[in-house]
Amino acid sequence: MPEILPSILSADFARLGDQIEALEAAGCRMVHLDVMDGHFVPNLTIGPPVIESLRKITKMTFDVHLMITDPDRYAPIFIQAGANNVLVHQETCPHLDRTLRMIQSEGARAGVVINPATPVAVLEDVLDVVDSVLVMSVNPGFGGQRFIKNSLNKVRRLAMRKREFGLQFPIEIDGGITLENVADVVRAGVEWIVAGSSIFHTVNPPAAFKEMRRLAHDAAAIRV
Ligand code: DX5
Ligand code: ZN
Repeated sequence: MPEILPSILSADFARLGDQIEALEAAGCRMVHLDVMDGHFVPNLTIGPPVIESLRKITKMTFDVHLMITDPDRYAPIFIQAGANNVLVHQETCPHLDRTLRMIQSEGARAGVVINPATPVAVLEDVLDVVDSVLVMSVNPGFGGQRFIKNSLNKVRRLAMRKREFGLQFPIEIDGGITLENVADVVRAGVEWIVAGSSIFHTVNPPAAFKEMRRLAHDAAAIRV
């Protein structure tokens, strides 16, 4: 069944702990944490201390999306802080196979991310190593952007490869997901759905989470 991963980038940072606890109470099992360094992407966000503090208040899986130029240097520090899944961009990893294996040897699940302009084909030779693949459906850096439709083709292509090779990794999507398009991405083959503004920029984030999960589960039930 698909999982909805609220992205705290759009949360109210003054009430972050409360918002995370409320989502967990609503049945949320995974949360997405965006790390930006102002170099790989033109924005700055959180670092290890925030993850370490949040780790103390929740058992949810931490899906840590590293939008930084030197993931090899920082991945172990984020794992130490409490990251369960560490996601690195293909565009920042000249030795991607080595980086993924390093993350796994440090005790986390290794995910790889591709930008909208990066083809699925570049991942072909690491698909048997990865624990998840995230298809960016916006250009990374900011919440609240519009979904890029070609991402659906990329997800279908990836789902095809996955079937062809008999692999099990979940396909994840990040950027511009709303109540209107969540069913489309599930039907294309997505299992982990990241959603920031469409959950946190509402009056009741736990209710928005539940509604999105309901739509995703309904779409999965009729997926062929
Ligand atoms: C963007 C981040 C996303 C962001 C998504 O670079 O990777 O995780 O929070 O936000 P929405 O869901 O608002 O597009
Ligand atoms: Zn993200």
